Amino acid sequence: MVTGASRGIGEEVARRLASAGYDLTITARSTDALAALSEELTDSHQVRVGTVSADMAVEDDVRSIAAAHRDAHGSLDVLVLNAGMGAIGPVADYPVRRLDKMFDINVRSAFVLIQELLPLLTASGASSPLGGKVLAVASMTGIAGEPLNSAYGATKAALISLCETLNTEHALEGVTATAVCPGYVATAMTQGLAETVPLDTMLPVADVATALMALTTITSRTVVPQLVLTRPGPHLWRA
Ligand SMILES: NC(=O)c1ccc[n+]([C@@H]2O[C@H](COP(=O)([O-])OP(=O)(O)OC[C@H]3O[C@@H](n4cnc5c(N)ncnc54)[C@H](OP(=O)(O)O)[C@@H]3O)[C@@H](O)[C@H]2O)c1
Repeated sequence: MVTGASRGIGEEVARRLASAGYDLTITARSTDALAALSEELTDSHQVRVGTVSADMAVEDDVRSIAAAHRDAHGSLDVLVLNAGMGAIGPVADYPVRRLDKMFDINVRSAFVLIQELLPLLTASGASSPLGGKVLAVASMTGIAGEPLNSAYGATKAALISLCETLNTEHALEGVTATAVCPGYVATAMTQGLAETVPLDTMLPVADVATALMALTTITSRTVVPQLVLTRPGPHLWRA
């Protein structure tokens, strides 16, 4: 399963997983983009690709993704928790409602999906050396704070913590979790920053997807709680 697969990192990861032979559930709000991607991947790779249009801010929508996946596939090897929103602003006057919405989308939906899908992941953990994998796309801002990123960074720090705890509770059953923590990646999300952070200095989407795919090949005997991807330069721990 790949959440936030309508564009950016999620779309590229869905392409890579389909190319590797995985049947997929892809989800986002953009129905047309999901339909086009599903058709393309089904035609190119002869895999089954189900789509679910859902808003991660709405709990019923999130649960409907899990239900659709269970009905269509009945098993789950890799859960890519990628859907996310970002909105910067100073702590002093950051709108608390925006903070709540970001937590719903970036953290709460991930928590609910993990709860819903843990039985399928545990079954993969018992039946395959690769186990059941949760790959959450967090962020460098979840590791090191930066101005204007208090809310976004807090959601990503929560995601990192969720992955750590999941490992402590379930890795011995073959369910492992990794929080992938990139600095700026050149996607729609960061287009507005292009004047201060040139696009060609941001991480390419392809590299983030390659890192995620590498994680899918590691057996569950090795736990990778975090994977940090940073841009070249004198400051490693900055977005
Ligand atoms: N770009 C960066 O610099 C960067 C760095 C570190 C981490 N990340 C993280 O990487 C992940 C992917 O981001 P991206 O850079 O690929 O951004 P993007 O191109 O804006 O893609 C975001 C994806 O999330 C989905 N999404 C957003 N809000 C949603 C909602 N309420 N319900 C359902 N789906 C929703 C979007 O689909 P719809 O709009 O169709 O719903 C889209 O597929 C995010 O979690 C982001 O925080 C990005």
